[in-house]
Amino acid sequence: MKILVLHGPNLNLLGRREPDVYGRVTLQEIENDMVALAGDLGVELLFFQSNHEGALVDEIQSTGVACSGILINPAAYTHTSVAIRDALVAVGLPVVEVHLSNIHSRETFRHTSFIAPIALGQVCGFGVDSYLLGLRAIFSHIEKGL
Ligand code: DQA
Repeated sequence: MKILVLHGPNLNLLGRREPDVYGRVTLQEIENDMVALAGDLGVELLFFQSNHEGALVDEIQSTGVACSGILINPAAYTHTSVAIRDALVAVGLPVVEVHLSNIHSRETFRHTSFIAPIALGQVCGFGVDSYLLGLRAIFSHIEKGL
């Protein structure tokens, strides 16, 4: 089973970006933790980070079709991107949305997600554990063949 893991804009700066909000963990450390869990689950992960909306759309269209599901932290595009939402719907794969921070306890513009209505679910507020919980959730869903 292959799962595409997408990271949106500015997540490449994790570790030094607003550590009071996002912690000190780097994107590489998050991916390392995910690979360790994926090894236990017997899943292959394909990672992609971009600061560009169109690049994320291209990746969903190209790599996404060869995968069984997509785990995505769309970052700021969560709150703005019809294009990413449409691409996710177009490939027709199960999607889980994750965020490090609890977007519902932050500024009101972060309370709306364009992705959540077309996702299986959303995990937010648990730092790196949001990714690990999200990975377990999408794995379990795919494995059940739902
Ligand atoms: C984020 C939350 C978004 O609102 C923000 O724009 C990000 C990170 C998170 O993981 O908490 O860049 O997706």
